[in-house]
Parts: sequence; structure tokens; C-alpha cells
Amino acid sequence: MSTEQPATAAIGDARPRIEGRLKVTGAARYAADEPAPDLAHGWVITATVARGRISAVDASAALGMPGVLGVLDHRNAPRLDPRAGNYFGPDGSLLLLQDDVVPYAGRPVVLVVAETPEQARAAAGAVVVTYEPYPHDVDFRLDHPAARPASTAFGPEADTGDIEAELAASAVVVDERYRTPEENCSAMEPHAATAWWQDGHLHAVDSNQGPFSVSQVLATLFGVDRDHVHIRAEHVGGGFGAKGPCGPQVILASMASRSFGRPVRVVLTREQVFLATALRPPTDQWLRIGADADGRLRAVHHRPAFALSPLAEYIEWCTEQARTLYAAPAIRTELTAVPLDILPPSPMRGPGATPGSFALESAMDEVAERLGLDPLDLRLRNQPAVGPVSGLPFSSRRSVACLREGARRFGWAGRDHRPRTRREGRLLIGTGLAATCFSAGVFPSTASITAEADGTFTVAVGATDIGTGARTALTAVAADTLGVGTERIRIRIADSDLGMAWGAGGSRGTTSWSFAITQAAAKLRERLGDPARPVTATVDTTALIDYQPATERHTFSAVFAEVSVDPATGEVRVRRMLGMFAVGRVINPLLARSQVVGGMIMGLSMALHEEGVRDPATGRQVNPDFAGYHIAAHADVPDIEAEFVPDYEPQDPLGLNGLGEIGTAGTAAAIANAVWHATGVRQRTLPIRLDRVL
Ligand code: MOS
Repeated sequence: MSTEQPATAAIGDARPRIEGRLKVTGAARYAADEPAPDLAHGWVITATVARGRISAVDASAALGMPGVLGVLDHRNAPRLDPRAGNYFGPDGSLLLLQDDVVPYAGRPVVLVVAETPEQARAAAGAVVVTYEPYPHDVDFRLDHPAARPASTAFGPEADTGDIEAELAASAVVVDERYRTPEENCSAMEPHAATAWWQDGHLHAVDSNQGPFSVSQVLATLFGVDRDHVHIRAEHVGGGFGAKGPCGPQVILASMASRSFGRPVRVVLTREQVFLATALRPPTDQWLRIGADADGRLRAVHHRPAFALSPLAEYIEWCTEQARTLYAAPAIRTELTAVPLDILPPSPMRGPGATPGSFALESAMDEVAERLGLDPLDLRLRNQPAVGPVSGLPFSSRRSVACLREGARRFGWAGRDHRPRTRREGRLLIGTGLAATCFSAGVFPSTASITAEADGTFTVAVGATDIGTGARTALTAVAADTLGVGTERIRIRIADSDLGMAWGAGGSRGTTSWSFAITQAAAKLRERLGDPARPVTATVDTTALIDYQPATERHTFSAVFAEVSVDPATGEVRVRRMLGMFAVGRVINPLLARSQVVGGMIMGLSMALHEEGVRDPATGRQVNPDFAGYHIAAHADVPDIEAEFVPDYEPQDPLGLNGLGEIGTAGTAAAIANAVWHATGVRQRTLPIRLDRVL
């Protein structure tokens, strides 16, 4: 690892968000705040059957109600181009109001448009949609008859060594199933869009994680040039993945605006966010780990299944950890997809890694238990020198530093590793740990920097700030790469007119945008001449990025948790958590800490609370709101410590590596392992409900 770090002024400095004041004073405008002349409002109606067809839409009563402009359904809505897709190719979930087919419960099937949101909502209540239901299947399990190998678009499966022979030769074998439920992205700001057409151009202010990619999808859907679609996402109140794809709100608002010749706003209700936007698929994961008596792993066999929809290919990549974290002579992964009649799953914070590491790190704890080993030692004994499957060198691998420094700060030494040995009054106390990793890298983006005549620099990049502080981080990056103070930087982001750019996702936003900024800054420096004349340099990094992996590039973490369990009620409380993270160089410790603490809270919420419950009889999610789907509230969240080990990613010009998702990924297993330590009861199914503890 290179430890050489360039001398800088702004990078590494803890600074508050540039737009913080705008947000706390209410001056920051979100997608549903955008003023537009003659604005109309759309109200969405969603399907109530899981599979079937629409046999009738009776809008006659609604059309006579006050303020109603019209009702869009599959019979009169603008036609959309079916070639439109999201991450993994064509995506039928984008093709709203195109036919009478109902592919999942919660599918938007009607949009009522009126002068006010209240009028649209009232009229929606008067629309009668009749369905002819077909048999549906929402019965998710690994051994489902429709289970098939998942797409290998992220690379071939691991298959090294002889799994069965190594398992047979192992002193202990853990052979278990781990399950995680459906989960929903619960951003504070529901999905919303305000859209209008003008001179053949589509304009929208939309709540999304990447205005450029959303503009591409909309251009295809509506059959217009990409540069005739102008999408802004100035302020976004959280995304967590659900605002990565082009969402139903902006598709429906754009359709209605075209039909009615007026700007139209569509705001989803919380229930519609649950039912119609995004879903972390449930997983059912078979794991076998074999080890020698001295704790050396011989075999890791991971066969995780996840649910998807026939409408869209998707990869819940649960197997990165099994092929990356530990050395073993035999490693096999078999990622399995189960198509069901559900909302198409899509990435949710720490996609794949979050359920995948829950399974792997729980199973590792079980190996330690059977060998009577310290779970920390078990991990330290199995550190790979190179990628265990790829054979490639690691770019920067500070996993051990995270484990050792985390253990020191948490006070791991001296732990009695036997379960049910610590009590405080009636409470059982336990501690647990988990290690994990998350893939890192960089994607093409465009940055443009103008040296203004007054000595300031305007930096434009199609980044999105979904609450992370991207503006503030990128201002520091621009200041340091230009060698000036941050007061001379003016940053413009979140506008598809700024050019092609990766979105805020995949833990690759900041690395991708910063790379483009460093390249544009270098080009600008070459061109600077007469300081009185503005000069602009624009760089698209597409040609500068080499996709042949020369190294294993990941971020790493270790999470430690302490829980108390009430043996009378089964109530689990997380008393403290500590996360150590290796994420490359940290641009802004204040914002970075906030982001990983948020990630750990999301992991706590996954461990103890979150569960999308689907009724097999109707195929519907029965708890699509915050009354039925609990996310961690302040009272659930203990003292959380999060720190970064010194790290520098040698492949990145600034040493950056990625931050957004690693915080969530390792947390659930650390808590589940702590619950086992407290109680002696293994938690192989999330969430850890009272009935599963007792
Ligand atoms: Mo994140 S789930 O890559 O938006």
C-alpha cells in the first residue's frame, strides 16, 4: 500500500455541508417544491392483484368531479418505447399504462390529473378498476421449482478446488441456511417529480440519484433526443438505491404533462413508495464452510437465492464476500434467481453485500463456536495474500487493521467466548463482530471547469447529493486539484445538461466525479493563459477508465456490537456499536462519519426491525407503511462509534475508494452474533424478532 498522500488544504478537513443552511431554513427546494405556472397534479392508483389483467376502468364519476382534468390509463396514455431499460437491460417496470397486464400488486395502473392534489386524490377514490385475476406466485425459497442461475453480468461464479473433498476432510462443517426478508428503501423524501414539455423538450425536477441516467431512460421512453430531456435533482432527501432507476413518478408526470399540455406534479405516498419503487429482494442462502481443527478454512460453498421479477433482470450479488474475504483451497458460489410476481427488485444500500455478509459472517461465527475459537482469531487466521478466487493482488486491503483496531477500541480482549455467560440483573449480555468488504471502482463521468475572470472557478459535474454532502466533498476535491482555497470554487451539480455522469450509487459516485474533476483540472492548468479571459476545460473520462481488473479493489470494515437480551420478553437492545472502516482516503471526516453511522443504523434496523411481509394469498405486501414496517427510531439507536483506519487507494489519483454502502453491509451479522453470545440461540433469519429469540 502506498502511504504517500499529497499535501492538501481541503481534503481531510471536517467541514459542514455547504447547503446545510438552505436545508435547515427550508430554502432548499426539493422536486415537489418546484414552482411551475399552471401546475396540475397527478394521483396514482396502484393494482390490487398480484397477477392478472385489467378488465375495466370506470372513470365516469371521477371525470365529473371538481377540478379533474382527466384520467390516464392503458387506453389513452402516451405510448412508450419498450427498449428502455435500467441497469440490467430492458425493464418492463418502466412501461407504465401501456397495456392491461398486471405483473405485480402495486403496479401503477391509473393516473388521475386535477387542478389540486386534493382534487386528484378525491377523484382517484371514485375510479373503479376491475381486474381479472390470474394465479400468482410469491412463494420465495431457494428450492423453488423456477429457481435458475442468476445473471453472470458481474463475472463468472467462483469454482476453485474440490468442494466436496475439502468438506469431507474438514474437522468441522457448518451447513446452514440463512434468510433475509424483503426490505424497502425508506428515504425521508418520498419520490416526487414536477415535469413539463416545452418546444419538444422534456423538463423535470425529479427526486433521483442520477439525473443523467434518468434523462437517458426518459429519452428512450418518449422517443426524443437525449439532449432534449433536461432533468434536475438539486436536493434529494435520501435515496438508498430506490431513486437510482428512473422512477414511476417522473414517467407518469411526463406522460400526463404531454397529454394535458401543462406542467404536472406527481408525488408518491409512502405506501406507493413501498409498493411501486424499489425492493431489496428476500434471500435464502445455503452456506457450507469446512475448517481444520486449528481454524484453517478448507471450503466455502455459498448458494444464495434471491427473488426477482420476470419484468427485469437483476443481480443481488451476495457472493462478493465469499470470494474475497477469506482464503480457502475450495470456494464455490452459485448465485440463484427466483422469478416471482413481485415488484422488480433493485439495489438497496449495500446491495448483495448486506444480505450476503449476514450469511457468511454468521456462519463464520458458527465455525468459531464449534472450534472453541475466538471469532476474531478465526478471521485473522484466514486472511488471503491475494484474491482467493481471482489470484489478483489486492489494491489496498486493510481488513486486518479494521479488525485489530476495532477490537482494541471496543475492548474485545478478555471476552469469554462461551454463550450465555454475561448477565446484568435479569438481562443477558453478549458481544459479536463481523468483517466485510464492498467492491469499489470508478465509472465514466464528465466534468467541466471554467476559470472565471474574477479568479474563481466554476466546476460542473453531473453529481447528485442525496444527503451525503457530495457538493461539499467535491468542492474540496476541486479546490485541492486546482490548488486554490474552497472560497474560490463554485460547484454545479445535479443537472443532466452538465453531461454524462455516473449517479450517486454503487459506492462509486464520489470516486467517479472526483476522477473527472482531477482530469478537467489538469487540462485546465495546461490552458491557463491570460487571467482576464475565462477558459473552460471539459473532460469525459470514458476513454480513461480501463475495465480490465488488474487488482481486487474493495473497501473493508469490521463492526462490533454489544446487545442486551431480556430473557422474559425476548427484547433485544443494541447497547453500543463500533465500526472501523477502510475506505481509501477520507475527503471530509465529518460527512464520512455521518454516512457510515447512518449505514450502521440501517444495518441495525435490518437486524432487528425491517421486514416486508407479503401475503401469499393476495401476493400483496401487507405492511407498506411506517406503522407496519418499523425502521429504527432514535430510541432504538445506541451510542455508535465509527472511525477510519489510514488508507490510500493506489489506483485513484486522490487515493479515494468508496464509502456509501460499506457501513450497512457488516452490521446485521455483528448484532446476530452478539445475540447468540448473549443467549446461545442462533439467529439465522432476519429480523431478530422476539419470537425468534425466545
Ligand atoms: Mo446504492 S443501493 O448503489 O444506490
